Amino acid sequence: MVSGAELNIQPDSQALATAAADFIAEQVRANPDLSILVATGNTPMPTYAELARRVRAGELEMNRVVAVQLDEYLGVAEDDPRSLWSWMLRSFVEPLGIRRTVKLEDPRTFEAAIAALGGLDLAILGLGPNGHLGFNEPPSPADAPTRVLELTPESLASNAAYWGELPVPRQAITAGMDIILAARKTLLLVSGAHKRAVLRSALEDGPTPDLPASLLRRTPLTVVADEAAWV
Ligand code: F6R
Repeated sequence: MVSGAELNIQPDSQALATAAADFIAEQVRANPDLSILVATGNTPMPTYAELARRVRAGELEMNRVVAVQLDEYLGVAEDDPRSLWSWMLRSFVEPLGIRRTVKLEDPRTFEAAIAALGGLDLAILGLGPNGHLGFNEPPSPADAPTRVLELTPESLASNAAYWGELPVPRQAITAGMDIILAARKTLLLVSGAHKRAVLRSALEDGPTPDLPASLLRRTPLTVVADEAAWV
């Protein structure tokens, strides 16, 4: 337990994926209609692959889960290779047989959809190199709403790694800090030595809007990290 967070350190990224899949599977077994805010990015991909393996093996059913989009670039069509919606469909929704989704397009309809669900049961998040959550760039206070914003140079640089030659769109829409912090449980996945300093800071400094991830310590937070990100 570090500063209110449950901290689960695993030897490597594959063990991280197994531990994170165990955590998610336990939540789904307790409530098959779980509503989940779903991060894309590199970190959660082995976890989603492990969940998909369990679904294919008949060890887990996730078809009643509701998958809620966390963030998206602005002005990117669904068939654009950079669409985060398509990334969520490919990596999470389709392999897990999920039938219900909430797409993030307009802040008001998004907030209404989450209210209609009765709030989010689980937020699965990655940690931005600058402490962002979704695209809540620093500074983002706890009441920052779902909104359109400009990406910071750090996020443009980290996101460039996903798209090869294609430019990273400069604007994005993100689920607000208000929605993320209201999730009944939060699972933060952190992998790699390049995340070590920001993870320490998120768990030990603040909490401050200058490091949005540090605000998670006010919520029921479980961090699953690999040793590279922690030791
Ligand atoms: C992705 C997202 C981002 C990432 C974060 C870490 O939907 O919301 O906040 O979770 O930038 O990215 P990776 O996991 O690629 O290091």
